[in-house]
Amino acid sequence: MVAEDSDLLVFQEEDEEEKKETDRNGSWKIMIVDDEEDVHKMTKMALNTVSFAGKNLEFISAYTAREARELLKSNTDIALVLLDVVMETDDAGLKLVLYIREEQENQIVRIILRTGQPGSAPEKKVIVDYDINDYKAKTELTSQKMFTSVISSLRSYSTITELVERERSEQEMKKAKEVAEKATKLKNEFVNLVAHDLKHPFASILGFLELILDDKECPIPPKHAEFLGIVKKSSESLITMIDKLLDLGRMSTGEVAVFKEHLDGHELTSAVVGRLRQMASKKGIEIVNEVKSEKLYVDRELFGSVVHNLTSNAIKFSKSDSRVIIYNPETMPATIAVKDAGTGINERILPNLFKQEVKTTTKGTAGERGTGLGLPYCKKIMDAHGGSLTVKTTHGEGTVFYATLPEAKVEAQIQVQQPDRLSS
Ligand SMILES: Nc1ncnc2c1ncn2[C@@H]1O[C@H](COP(=O)(O)OP(=O)(O)OP(=O)(O)O)[C@@H](O)[C@H]1O
Ligand SMILES: [Mg+2]
Repeated sequence: MVAEDSDLLVFQEEDEEEKKETDRNGSWKIMIVDDEEDVHKMTKMALNTVSFAGKNLEFISAYTAREARELLKSNTDIALVLLDVVMETDDAGLKLVLYIREEQENQIVRIILRTGQPGSAPEKKVIVDYDINDYKAKTELTSQKMFTSVISSLRSYSTITELVERERSEQEMKKAKEVAEKATKLKNEFVNLVAHDLKHPFASILGFLELILDDKECPIPPKHAEFLGIVKKSSESLITMIDKLLDLGRMSTGEVAVFKEHLDGHELTSAVVGRLRQMASKKGIEIVNEVKSEKLYVDRELFGSVVHNLTSNAIKFSKSDSRVIIYNPETMPATIAVKDAGTGINERILPNLFKQEVKTTTKGTAGERGTGLGLPYCKKIMDAHGGSLTVKTTHGEGTVFYATLPEAKVEAQIQVQQPDRLSS
């Protein structure tokens, strides 16, 4: 047993089970390059019973440098080359080192030079001039020093291959991420283009429908009026959907600039509540605005859309005679929470709530329909503010959404003239 590597270096005493285990793990390929048959035999005898890090050693023999080149081409996973210097020529071994490092560009394989005539390849000069990892005299073939050198070479080969592998998988992940981002960008651009081109024809269909339905001089039969009413409603939902897709697309591509101002939280939420009061009262729902009159550093229109969608969702998914409360949670600074005592969110859709690509929309308690794009849009807006959007929900008991902003910065107190929202 070798003291330095007692945990990893195991000799013949290993029992059958351990042997089977090391066989399963594969092996370290060691190439012996030497023109003397005895050197091959002695090396194998000396190292045959060694295993390292749960793997056995496997030997490949080459008797000339030329033969070694061929074997190196077909065995790209050789861990260590035990290399003689003088073979078919005086410097055949040294030329093989150059071939491995420069032509094959293999910096990973470890090379131990072993020479029988140290004078022909002086150690200092060889170590300096050639990229080898150790230099041994053939007299040391079976010595303890040889074992140590082989094991430390395998250890560094193992570390280097792990590093190379890690680097490679990081590069692959980076590449895959870039491809996915490019695909998302293309998809967003395509959706934006289609939505943009669809909006005008639908707006004109809707306009003409309204003209037909409102034409007092030329009344249409009640049955047709009913059908046209349905067409009008569908066109309106389509236009809403297109608008939301366009908003979401612009947010995703960064086309929308966020203009933050210090605004009074209570005033901002009151304005939203005002717009939703009618929708709530139709369902017998009371909206309570408990938001404090404290400054929030937000984009008025975009953050207003977040509060609007969260509150309209709360109304949509609440039963009549209940309350929707908008407030500042005590333990969460810079947060607006919207709480309802409604249906709670279906567990199935919960993980995908903020994903645009997954259909999450369900009908409200009064059969209201939506696009399912509201929450993904809110999430994008909160991200653009450097904040977050989170949710707590209990089936049958209700839901709370938390729109949390980052702590406001002092320099942001200076208000600036707002340029156009849409960047070109
Ligand atoms: N407060 C809530 N209570 C219960 N379910 C909710 C609540 N908020 C959202 N949901 C669920 O999440 C889905 C997605 O909400 P989101 O706001 O994204 O779209 P939507 O409300 O369906 O459509 P839109 O916002 O376009 O009107 C809803 O359809 C509903 O199933
Ligand atoms: Mg919604």
